[in-house]
Amino acid sequence: MTDEYKQVAAHKALELVQEGMLIGLGSGSTARHFTEGLGRLVAEGLKVRGVPTSRATAELAAERGIPIVTELVGQIDLTVDGADEVDPSLNLIKGRGGALSREKLVAAASKRFVIVVDESKLVKQLGNGVLPVEVLPFLWRSTAERLTALGVSLVLRGGEEVPFVTDNGNLILDVSVEGGIKNPTDLGVELKKVTGVVEHGLFVGMTDTVIVAGPDGPKAIGRPPG
Ligand code: 5RP
Repeated sequence: MTDEYKQVAAHKALELVQEGMLIGLGSGSTARHFTEGLGRLVAEGLKVRGVPTSRATAELAAERGIPIVTELVGQIDLTVDGADEVDPSLNLIKGRGGALSREKLVAAASKRFVIVVDESKLVKQLGNGVLPVEVLPFLWRSTAERLTALGVSLVLRGGEEVPFVTDNGNLILDVSVEGGIKNPTDLGVELKKVTGVVEHGLFVGMTDTVIVAGPDGPKAIGRPPG
């Protein structure tokens, strides 16, 4: 059922697409439904270009005939991406798929940032699950120590023998905050200050609209679609 809801939310977002747009293409299973749907529209003659947030999305877009842009001057018209957690202020945790840095770069360059989720992603407070933090591989244990000094616990994604490596050649530390994240803005600022941290998965104040799907169909929260 969850995947069906993901598809419903992603397809609703296709209604925001207009001829000529430059579109940020998110990563993960929900965003994949959007890219596949966009590919169908392109096959029918729609002229758009995509900015992929990961190598996997770039490959999918190329397969589906969506022209790709990797060097950007100016802004992206619309970005559609998934999320791991969405709070009532539309702040997010992203990065379960490890694409958080490129996802944040694309979101930050977008006129409109739309999140598509199934209803299981809505939470009262962020931090139910882990918060992914991308770090440089060089001296990563020292970076991890500086992070734990903030009062969080963490694990290296994939483990030390076969660590997960991001599209940028970096590592992911999955951070847990006991009791949840009470102040996402402050935590985001603290994480960014840690030497060795490339980016973190807190997206605070970036989302324009969340399209959430459940048994009652899709509904939009935030800036109305259209
Ligand atoms: C990848 C992400 C994804 O958007 C997020 O993990 C949601 O994935 P899914 O749509 O598969 O549930 O942030 O880095």
